[in-house]
Amino acid sequence: MMRRRQLFQFAGVAAVAAAGGAAWMYYGSGRSTALAGGPFRHYPFDPVAAENFQQKLFIPVGEGPFGVLDLAGPLKIRATAASFPLLPGRESPFLLYQTEQAGKAYQNPILRIESGARFTASLENGLAESTIIHWHGLHVPAAMDGHPASVIAPGGRYDYDFTVRDRGGTYWYHTHAHNLTAKQAYYGLASFFLVDDDDQRRVNKAFDLQLGVTDLPLVIQDKQFDAQGKLLYQPGVHEAMMGWLGDIVLANLTPNAVQAVTPRTYRLRLLNGSNARIYRLAFVKGSTPLDFTVIGTDGGLIERPETVSEAFLAPGERLDVLLDAGQAQVGEDIFLKSLTFDAMENEGSAGGMPGMGGMGMGRMMAGMSSSRLPLGHEFNVLKLSVTAGERVVAKLPTTLSQVKPIPTEGAAQRKIELSMGQMRFLINGRTFKMDEIAFDVKRGAVEIWNISNPTLGIPHPMHIHGFSFQVLERIGSPPQLAATARFGKGRTVSDLGWKDTVLVWPGETVRVAINFTHDFPGDQTYVFHCHNLEHADAGMMINFRVQA
Ligand code: C2O
Ligand code: CU
Ligand code: CU
Repeated sequence: MMRRRQLFQFAGVAAVAAAGGAAWMYYGSGRSTALAGGPFRHYPFDPVAAENFQQKLFIPVGEGPFGVLDLAGPLKIRATAASFPLLPGRESPFLLYQTEQAGKAYQNPILRIESGARFTASLENGLAESTIIHWHGLHVPAAMDGHPASVIAPGGRYDYDFTVRDRGGTYWYHTHAHNLTAKQAYYGLASFFLVDDDDQRRVNKAFDLQLGVTDLPLVIQDKQFDAQGKLLYQPGVHEAMMGWLGDIVLANLTPNAVQAVTPRTYRLRLLNGSNARIYRLAFVKGSTPLDFTVIGTDGGLIERPETVSEAFLAPGERLDVLLDAGQAQVGEDIFLKSLTFDAMENEGSAGGMPGMGGMGMGRMMAGMSSSRLPLGHEFNVLKLSVTAGERVVAKLPTTLSQVKPIPTEGAAQRKIELSMGQMRFLINGRTFKMDEIAFDVKRGAVEIWNISNPTLGIPHPMHIHGFSFQVLERIGSPPQLAATARFGKGRTVSDLGWKDTVLVWPGETVRVAINFTHDFPGDQTYVFHCHNLEHADAGMMINFRVQA
């Protein structure tokens, strides 16, 4: 139940929004009906209209933008302002990581490296503001992690040198300058970091997959554009609170993307690289959701292939899936869609204000977004057009990899409470302070974090640096999520395996086990934060220190 004090704090936000003018008006007009599934108005490149899907999907190749770079030595990476044609024929200001290797130039390269190898790179800041790179999902010493305190000023340089201790998997890297992360990531500073190992090679061999051909890294992002086709990023008071939602959906930076496929199995390494949007992903033919098989999550392969028909993917999360495109006939299309859902399902009217028809606060705030595509609205992400080719039916292996459960006997329990106050979301009542440590953890300790999100909240994708965790249990899940929880203890397919980001829905408590064993010298301070990047920038982040 909501506490009275929170209501007042939240009412304060509403009052500010009202004073701020137009945005507040949306509450009573079109936005809230759209949120409730009301009339949707079409616009250029809107992802709801299937007929818009005509731009060829951008697929990374051996060099250039998002080229696959097999690391062969130290890299010099320069973060720089550039432009990029996001909408066809229009250049937009964009930020890029530029580098080169063996005479080839890359922008935002998909870095690929063998598990156990050494990674050496220097970052040069060619931007007009501070920045730093964080290696999302990697277990590295704090000094190599891209903690926001490590930012470098314009013209500055940061040297990275670490061993990739992680198992094979789809990791990523992005900017982490506090207060600037959301904007810099939105403008482009992010890409994949693929780690290879024997398990990964075994899977690709079993399905005869080839990176860039049938094994496709696919980053999903939503963005807004102005009338000139330039990226627009202007979070107002309520968007800083709810997160910035786009209304044009990009797959590998391609709006309304289409890709030809043949009747065989494809691997899609899905990354939600959006600032704030949550996707409820499904592959749909006509109106029929098709089966697909999840083989991996954030930290690499799961134990067994799991066949499902939908999965939620929150900002920061990855889902490695196999899709048999032969489920459709030649000439038919399969759409990767985000299905409709209610982000505030559990909220009910608990946070409602008098005279607001019992609408919850989170729901009301969400209704005030400037995006023409409300959170939870159904739309398409990518069209797969099935073309003639040999029908290849792949047999799923019984095991993919080993995921040893973290031994939790005698583990310390820690309460992590998400809440709100002073117009921002808080973790254990705190807002981020660069040099404040929220709590200490002992090196080698196993802890169980009970992450709870009050009923009147909104969903928060919670992310840890430095370590991965295992999801033990979900308690109090909203019905739409509980309906897909077939993996014991309320868990869904996105909760399996090794995770670094977990979505915590309103009313839920998610229990995760973390093993804080490491062999880095001295104390190590990392952040734990919400991966709704506007939330993180607004201070929904804490430092924790792993003591030597
Ligand atoms: Cu991708 Cu601190 O996160
Ligand atoms: Cu991270
Ligand atoms: Cu959040």
